[in-house]
Amino acid sequence: DPKAHPAKAFRAAILHSLANPTDVGLEDSYQYFDDGVLLVADGHVVKVGHADDILPSLDPSVEVVVLENKLITPGFIDTHIHYPQTGMIAAYGEQLLDWLNNYTFPEEKRFADVNYAREVAVQFLDELARNGTTTALVFGTVHKESVDVFFQESEKRNLRMIAGKVLMDRNAPEDLTDTPESGYEDSKALIEKWHNKGRLHYAVTPRFAPTSTSEQLRLAGKLLEEYPDVYMHTHLSENQKEIEWVQELFPESKNYLDVYDQHGLLSSRSVFAHGIHLCDGECKRLSESDSAIAFCPTSNLFLGSGLFPLSEMEAKGIKVGMGTDVGAGTSFSLLQTMSEAYKVMQLQGKKLHPLKSLYQATLGGAKALSLDHLIGNFESGKEADFVVLDLHATQLMKFRMEHAQSLEDKLFVLMTLGDDRTVCDTYSYGQSVYNR
Ligand code: GUN
Ligand code: ZN
Repeated sequence: DPKAHPAKAFRAAILHSLANPTDVGLEDSYQYFDDGVLLVADGHVVKVGHADDILPSLDPSVEVVVLENKLITPGFIDTHIHYPQTGMIAAYGEQLLDWLNNYTFPEEKRFADVNYAREVAVQFLDELARNGTTTALVFGTVHKESVDVFFQESEKRNLRMIAGKVLMDRNAPEDLTDTPESGYEDSKALIEKWHNKGRLHYAVTPRFAPTSTSEQLRLAGKLLEEYPDVYMHTHLSENQKEIEWVQELFPESKNYLDVYDQHGLLSSRSVFAHGIHLCDGECKRLSESDSAIAFCPTSNLFLGSGLFPLSEMEAKGIKVGMGTDVGAGTSFSLLQTMSEAYKVMQLQGKKLHPLKSLYQATLGGAKALSLDHLIGNFESGKEADFVVLDLHATQLMKFRMEHAQSLEDKLFVLMTLGDDRTVCDTYSYGQSVYNR
């Protein structure tokens, strides 16, 4: 019923990405309208353009929402995050393996209680909306109910979300492990129930190589064979001790990625978090298989994991999305994540242009998730997931913006000083899911 979602126009400055600046150059990578109109209907983008071009053609019945000192961009896409770690973000003092044992596993045990799981899922989805994130690739816990309630709550908000139950059958506390068979069966049931239901998708989710036996990884590969459009989501090469441990556990593998490769887990629907310390052979296989990496700068700095070599990975033809990796990541905000990504590049003597950052957090993320035919920018027909950002969100930002000349200046200030205070509104499928 089109009357249920009548056409609505949003008038503000509008910016969206058209392509990867690395491929086409900055000038051709984006579209910007200083006085723009975004026309949406039935959850989709009808068109975007300059107000002078769009407004005269609008039916007089269409409501026009006028937004002053605001910038509309596509909703942010978080290509790696753990919803069960919302309650233990900012845990002090450890690197990856001790951080997992001391903080993460004890918190994840609490998700045996489905009521607690739902409470955290709601809190998590509220936080995503508050930060302008409209799509995410999400880890659950080992408990299948944790993913069931996550999908239920995502469905209520009509969000495009990808999630999966953790597969973990060794090297973890006993009450946090499954078996190869139960992990396979539980994943299969969740796929049958949720995959491609509305805007939801399933990701087969082995935590990382050290917590799965070869038999469990084999069955994960079997699921991907049985359901070819399901995603695969895991961690890769984040921390030096982790890498050494993988080599001990899988002595027959050529390298870390090869463990996943040998079990049939590499494809254009595979997303590997981190991938900081990869050798040429691993890069070659990621590129050949069209797999993606989630670059998680706040997490990589927080756990002292290392500096992700973004330019080198892209030069080798590897798809990259941005991830917050909460709770090792320290912010739900993709704006804050872009700010930290800039600093990670600075430490490597490289620059990260704000238009490139915007691309990575929107259209680049959509491409990493093979969802760019549906989301990521304002091309006509795409789903209307967008955010209204306040250029005067804080006293400092307002003052600083008065000194900003170009679009690039403003965008860079926005992402360097911005966070959840910058997000006025978040829309999913044309409907408001958050208003500050
Ligand atoms: N490697 C295995 N599990 C995790 C996790 O929960 N967070 C991060 N950052 N790395 C991991
Ligand atoms: Zn992670």
